[in-house]
Amino acid sequence: MPAMNLKKRQVMKRSDFLKLMSGAAAVAAIEPAFASGTASSVVSNEPVEPVSIATWRFGLETTKLAHQHLLQGGTALDATEIGVKLCEADPKERSVGLGGRPDRDGHVTLDACCMDHLGNVGSVAGVEDVVHVSSLARAVMEKTPHVMLVGEGARQFAQEMGFPLQDLLVPESKAEWEKWKEKSDYKPVINIENHDTIGQLSRDTEGRLAGFCTTSGMAFKMRGRVGDSPLIGPGLYVDGEVGAATATGHGEEVIRVVGSYRVVAEMEKGFSPHEACKRAVEKIYAFFKRREAGIQDTQIGFIALDKNGRVGGYALRPGFQYAVVRGFTPNAEPALVDVEALLP
Ligand code: GLY
Repeated sequence: MPAMNLKKRQVMKRSDFLKLMSGAAAVAAIEPAFASGTASSVVSNEPVEPVSIATWRFGLETTKLAHQHLLQGGTALDATEIGVKLCEADPKERSVGLGGRPDRDGHVTLDACCMDHLGNVGSVAGVEDVVHVSSLARAVMEKTPHVMLVGEGARQFAQEMGFPLQDLLVPESKAEWEKWKEKSDYKPVINIENHDTIGQLSRDTEGRLAGFCTTSGMAFKMRGRVGDSPLIGPGLYVDGEVGAATATGHGEEVIRVVGSYRVVAEMEKGFSPHEACKRAVEKIYAFFKRREAGIQDTQIGFIALDKNGRVGGYALRPGFQYAVVRGFTPNAEPALVDVEALLP
């Protein structure tokens, strides 16, 4: 085990750890004593088991990197930021950062937010020319009296903070946009053009939680459109005493139910991460039915991590995956989990 700053903290009992390892399906739907963290916790000098979880297959790389940082005693906030930045810098990922698909006018505009276990928050939306909008959101959190900057103001702040500016539109995304313009038909392809966000959550060896969410948003969106990802509550929520959640998919639907906050609130009631995500998806579906709205182009997925290290996820439709890694083994390989879905 690497050297760590050891001090008294709450850790899981072995029986809870075994329950966690048995998988989401085996976890009881509601476990108030476990979720409250009172009845099943003991004071220990042991480091807390580090965990990192992220949306989609690209989470395999980002959680691995974050976990390595956590094993060196890094904070959940630092580790998660390091993870998502990997995805932002990858021009092959066409829904996040550099290489993201543009809006209908050909501008790549990025959204991101972050939150820590204390309730510190930062957010940016509609930012052009800045690859690492996750770090920009963190700079808003740490270096301004505000929690959210948008558009040109956010870009100006990035310049002032020394962030490099560059064109984010790669030739592949430009070609897709030019093809899209032939019809200008707004029907995002589920799990591809809606495969749109990296949300990542981590718990560090001190038991602190943090999360980041970063995206280029819906492909070919209207200029100025903002989705759920930069919004604290819909796209991301962290309560250090309860757990953390983040969302991916059709942002308009996630905003309608304040999705990630809802997941954390369900965990606070005692529901497991898996069940909490399921309940949020069910609420979104109930809203669709109430509004008699079309659901055919929509995918939504949530992932969650509770303060005891349990993880879960749930989606509206099949196809959503998350990556998760935990434990004290250096260079541990994350697992890719196919998420259960409400609809066939
Ligand atoms: N979930 C990302 C977006 O809707 O923009």
